[in-house]
Amino acid sequence: MKAVILAGGEGTRLRPLTLNRPKSMVPILNRPFLEHMIDYLKGYNIDDIILALCYLPGYIQNYFGDGSDFGVRLTYVMEDPPLGTAGAVKNIEQHLDETFFVFNGDIFTDLDLTRMMEFHQEMGAKVTIALTPVENPSIYGVVEADANSRVERFIEKPSPDAATTNMINAGTYIIAPEVLESIPAESFCTFEREVFPMLVETGEPVYSHPSDAYWIDIGSHEKYLKLHYDLLRGKTAKSFPSKGIRVDGDCDIHSQAELKGPLIIGTNCVIGPRVQVKGPSVIGPNCQIGADSLIDRAVVWKNTRLGQAVSARGCVIAENVFVGDRSQIMQGSVLGDNVVVGAGKRIERDTTLGADNPLFQLSNAL
Ligand code: GDD
Ligand code: MG
Repeated sequence: MKAVILAGGEGTRLRPLTLNRPKSMVPILNRPFLEHMIDYLKGYNIDDIILALCYLPGYIQNYFGDGSDFGVRLTYVMEDPPLGTAGAVKNIEQHLDETFFVFNGDIFTDLDLTRMMEFHQEMGAKVTIALTPVENPSIYGVVEADANSRVERFIEKPSPDAATTNMINAGTYIIAPEVLESIPAESFCTFEREVFPMLVETGEPVYSHPSDAYWIDIGSHEKYLKLHYDLLRGKTAKSFPSKGIRVDGDCDIHSQAELKGPLIIGTNCVIGPRVQVKGPSVIGPNCQIGADSLIDRAVVWKNTRLGQAVSARGCVIAENVFVGDRSQIMQGSVLGDNVVVGAGKRIERDTTLGADNPLFQLSNAL
């Protein structure tokens, strides 16, 4: 069984975290998101995976190579310029001669793919779209279906008053290869705005497969943090021992440091005296946390250094960041790669700092 993962988008809403890496490579529990996805697919014996890439493709290729170290066979196909979600799949038509899966490359889910395939075959569908309930459907693709789950309407990102149901496109599809004939070659085309509405309009058997499996699109700062909290609190099938503390490899954790799970601490970290790390939190490899600092419900990436008496709450701090002594990083803040925060600064709630706003860094540098 083949699967296509759409991982070409720029991840604009996740900036600055996606300035130097594709969205599918942001770390989740210290491993790239895509590695979790590959594990999930392997769990269903899907080991022939085609990655449709566009933005920073080399980052993904360098990490995964041919996939053999990860137990899968990976094929990379690049687009330049982007072809849209359907154009990207049309672009790899030569690899697709049997019914295949397509996955948005930014969804973490426990959806049962075997059941979805059984449903697809039972219904004799040409396309089956996984659905999930959400609170704010208008930022997604809204799918209206009849009592037999046959899709009657697909409306991508409707205005809030036009969203007639809270069941949305969960970004997993099963597609019969003949559907590719209806997608124009070498042109920008999306499933959501063009192909699905057109197939429904022309009476093709497009079915929906609702499920209440865990589901999240990691495409915003808030959701990125929420996925960490959910994984660490054991809210997904891939459960982490709730309240557990996992320290990877060799770390130098001072005997007076206080760790309260659920936590993951990457290898080679140095954690000073009287530091408090409160879960759910993740600290990447090679980080240094100075004496008397507090990390509370935060995700810290690799090679980052916090000085003494720093407090970091409910925030994301990316790679190679330096935070000076006594600085406070407030709830909802995101510090991108290489950001420098001088001593005694207060980064207010929901502040985003990255290479896009270098002036801040200069004026605050030590
Ligand atoms: N190769 C390639 N080329 N990939 C692309 C392109 C492209 O031109 N455009 C987007 N992608 C990839 C993105 O990298 C991402 O993994 C996926 O396709 C979906 O794109 P997003 O930009 O994240 O779309 P969205 O989240 O606003 O909406 C989509 O996902 C929702 C579920 O989260 C739509 O499919 C909605 O209908 C759906 O409800
Ligand atoms: Mg998305």
